[in-house]
Amino acid sequence: MSTQVARTIAAVREAHDSTRTWGGVVGLVPTMGYLHAGHASLVAAARAECDHVTASVFVNPLQFGQADDLATYPRDLERDLGVAEEAGADLVFAPAVEEMYPAGRPFTTVSVAELTAGWEGAVRPGHFDGVATVVAKLFAIAGPSRAYFGEKDYQQLQVVRRMAVDLDLPVDVVACPTVREGDGLALSSRNVHLGPEERRAATVLRRALDAGIAAAAAGERDPAAVDAAMARLVTGEPLAQLDYAAIVRPDTLESPDRIEPGEYRLLIAARVGKPRLIDNAGVLVG
Ligand code: PAJ
Repeated sequence: MSTQVARTIAAVREAHDSTRTWGGVVGLVPTMGYLHAGHASLVAAARAECDHVTASVFVNPLQFGQADDLATYPRDLERDLGVAEEAGADLVFAPAVEEMYPAGRPFTTVSVAELTAGWEGAVRPGHFDGVATVVAKLFAIAGPSRAYFGEKDYQQLQVVRRMAVDLDLPVDVVACPTVREGDGLALSSRNVHLGPEERRAATVLRRALDAGIAAAAAGERDPAAVDAAMARLVTGEPLAQLDYAAIVRPDTLESPDRIEPGEYRLLIAARVGKPRLIDNAGVLVG
């Protein structure tokens, strides 16, 4: 069966109602389009676990700041339909901005405190309110039992999880591993803006994460030393400009005072040429 396209909230509700009436499980994969293999892996994960899979393609103006690249955000719905179909989506929900925000901007927004003050939230004020608001709307529109998000955007994943818990949304938020190029670079729609030299330099993010993992696994107890081990690699790469590199608690994203045995997350952000890239990795300290 070929993938259908829904432009309206009513059309999505109708399609999902018909699945739910026979007890079928609806899976949702929210995206902003320009789909790559990372997005496709989320659709494939949903396909494996759900009876009906909808991918949304919506470049959400609410999560872009003034200086951000809303106007130049890459779009190609025809191609997206092909990728979504290939990965197993039943439906692509591609609403116009007016369908999602008929009044321009919504009066009601969702804000997840604490988790959004630092890291990406510090660089992009209001960004996570925009994300949380559109994801809450997509959950309300689609009524999925399961929704799939990439670990690639780790802070976003934690924000969405927190929102679902705090607002008692009846949605299982499923985390999917980061899909990478052969040399370790995490797939991202921003990678197309990397020149050939920058593309080579961009692998420094993954290499820095590996250095952080090695330091933590070797028994380093001082978080600043792990952060420095990551930072050293990035500052050694002339084309890269470090924004942050930090070992944090995986749930609160706070920097620990001291590294004790347990799970941690390494977060990194750097500009490589013009594009600003983010990446992260988990580490289990024994
Ligand atoms: P977008 O950047 O299109 O990403 C959609 C989903 O794909 C997110 O859950 C993201 O984490 C995941 N993803 C991106 N690159 C990935 C990779 N290399 N491996 C695995 N998953 C990857 O994130 C957004 O859109 C928006 O903020 C959205 C949640 C749709 C709200 O507007």
